[in-house]
Amino acid sequence: MSPFLLTRTLPVDATDAALRADVRSGLTARPKTLPPKWFYDAHGSDLFEEITRLAEYYPTRAEREILIARAGEIAAASTAKTLIELGSGSSEKTRHLLDALPGLHTYVPVDVSESALAGAAEALLAERPELSVHALVADFTHVLELPDSPGPRLVAFLGGTLGNLLPEERAEFLASVRARLSPGDALLLGTDLVKDEATLVAAYDDAAGVTAAFDKNVLTVVNRELGADFPPDDFEHVALWDADNEWIEMRLRARRALTVKIRELDLVVQFEEGEELRTEISAKFREEKVREELAAAGLRLDQWWTDTAGRFALSLATA
Ligand code: AVJ
Repeated sequence: MSPFLLTRTLPVDATDAALRADVRSGLTARPKTLPPKWFYDAHGSDLFEEITRLAEYYPTRAEREILIARAGEIAAASTAKTLIELGSGSSEKTRHLLDALPGLHTYVPVDVSESALAGAAEALLAERPELSVHALVADFTHVLELPDSPGPRLVAFLGGTLGNLLPEERAEFLASVRARLSPGDALLLGTDLVKDEATLVAAYDDAAGVTAAFDKNVLTVVNRELGADFPPDDFEHVALWDADNEWIEMRLRARRALTVKIRELDLVVQFEEGEELRTEISAKFREEKVREELAAAGLRLDQWWTDTAGRFALSLATA
């Protein structure tokens, strides 16, 4: 049985401190905002898995189609010995990648959720006992210390999660990834693409209300973790297309004027009727925009693959 290592780069209380800081700064900002990373407690992660199976939410299916169709080209282009997957989550996408990388020696899943990592690594090792798995509990949007592992390495950042970052955050993130690539390494990047507004909004405001529940769950996380008294039912889920920034924005709109107390922060927050709390952006891309953002980080876009319907893209980039 190959070794399964799990390294925590986050001190155990780091998550608590980060949540406190994000809630204090976000809820006293104008407009109010919370980072999407806090969606993903156990219930939020389950709701996201349910979202990926919704008819309206096409990105997961579209990316899976590309991974399967282009597996051979990805393998030929990267000859990776190590796969580092940022935001690996349930690692369902990973299986298609691992199938495409027959010579792989080491898999490094990186995620903030230790439970998701442990579960996924255990399942993967059962199927691929020859693989060495080094799981990293880390917030990959900040400092990224990667373990030593045999090169060349393929860093995969799939799902379109890059779109959760604001443009300046994306530039920093891509530069931090570039700084850790050696000659022969590569980045495999998943990006959702610009398309008609109706399709985009439906993907973030499904008829069954799963995305609405996913969005409101962040209020439950803050209530539980920081002793707050957000009334989730007094907020309405809103998804809108910001055509200037070319991103979907999810917001929670207060149905009435209300006061929220956050006990652990000794903070009281007022919401006016109709006031909106921004909970996520999900940026949508064009090939030229991806090429430019990669180039600004010192990366060259070598391959651009889309699904047959042209909804989503995988990029392979090298330093
Ligand atoms: C996991 C961040 C890629 O932005 O599409 C799904 C999260 N938010 N439905 C996305 C999400 C609402 C998803 N990412």
